[in-house]
Amino acid sequence: MLGKTIFKKDGLHRLSASYIPERLPSREEHQLEIFNTVIGFLEGRLPLKAIVLNGPSGSGKTVTVKKASEQVLKYCSQRNIKLEYRHLNTRFASSDFTLAQMITLSLMPNIPGRGYSGRELLFTVFDYLEKSGRSFLLVLDDFDSFLSGVRSRFFTDLLKISEEYEERVKVILILIGIEDVSSKVKDSWATSFFWRIGRSFKPYSAEEISVILKDRVELSFNENAVDDSLVYLMGRLTERFGYGSARYSIELLLASGLNASYEGSARVSSEHVREAQYRIESVISPADLKTVFSQDPEMRRLVEMLIRVFESCDEPFVGFKTLEEHGVKTRDSSVVEKLKRLHFEGLLDYNPSRREIALIGMPLRLLQQAFD
Ligand SMILES: Nc1ncnc2c1ncn2[C@@H]1O[C@H](COP(=O)(O)OP(=O)(O)O)[C@@H](O)[C@H]1O
Ligand SMILES: [Mg+2]
Repeated sequence: MLGKTIFKKDGLHRLSASYIPERLPSREEHQLEIFNTVIGFLEGRLPLKAIVLNGPSGSGKTVTVKKASEQVLKYCSQRNIKLEYRHLNTRFASSDFTLAQMITLSLMPNIPGRGYSGRELLFTVFDYLEKSGRSFLLVLDDFDSFLSGVRSRFFTDLLKISEEYEERVKVILILIGIEDVSSKVKDSWATSFFWRIGRSFKPYSAEEISVILKDRVELSFNENAVDDSLVYLMGRLTERFGYGSARYSIELLLASGLNASYEGSARVSSEHVREAQYRIESVISPADLKTVFSQDPEMRRLVEMLIRVFESCDEPFVGFKTLEEHGVKTRDSSVVEKLKRLHFEGLLDYNPSRREIALIGMPLRLLQQAFD
């Protein structure tokens, strides 16, 4: 059976996009801020409000909003506050009408989608909310791509309709985008309508990714299958080549685990990680390296030495001391320049502050081809 030796039962599921983890390292405060803001508006007097947050892909926006919304639902059920909650991805909504249709159908699956205008559908939503006495927490995800694709009247319609229902219907939107959605709307009413979250979603650092991945390793892999040093390597790769995206790091972990699993290995090795990295995106190829060698024969000799060091050891990172023992003069300025060049080319992770290097970019078995 696939993955039997290395993955836990259900382990693969916990590395999938739909899995929502128990804990969100580095995003606990963001979650709390979103929760507090939603509750504040829910219990406040304004009938309509849009909470806005943005940040790069993979910075945890969707999952953090989902966790905060779960928390809101729990809060409301404990206090008998009636709330509808929907999280919609609007990437494929192509007009105000399809957006209104998505929202309406999510609440009332049986309503005939045809024969109404977008505005009429929104009225139906407000009617439904008024009659059922429920508030509405509506998350519109990837909303910047919707707004950049259409000339939208959505907010204007929503504000007008909301005015008619006054405080009888309360709607709280959460708008998620890579870009700041509120900056796309210039009208004066917008300033009181939008509320920007204070904490920003930034790309994760190597250290932050390591903490996130350690949780996933524990959830998905058998004990001792993935060393902490490999997790840190994945963190470095994510920081350098994956734009600090947690999604990239989890894909890298999954692909590395599958490589080990296909080989029937009970442990993930550095080679499995390099293989996975090369398959996700080849930053450098054997042909690129040949070009570098043809300009600089000493570089060729240095890489040959490095290969020997890494073949003889199991660790992803090798300290400067070990390199010295293998004849790599890490204090020699011309060697340092070469190591920096190889770092820049994407064949090395050269880390002078930790006094160590890792071989990355492509699997060792491919690296041999640069010498053919
Ligand atoms: N702080 C975190 N802790 C645990 N998993 C995370 C964290 N941030 C992101 N993830 C995971 O990384 C992936 C991408 O996160 P997501 O929320 O979809 O990013 P975004 O919406 O910003 O593109 C998801 O699988 C998510 O569960
Ligand atoms: Mg998202």
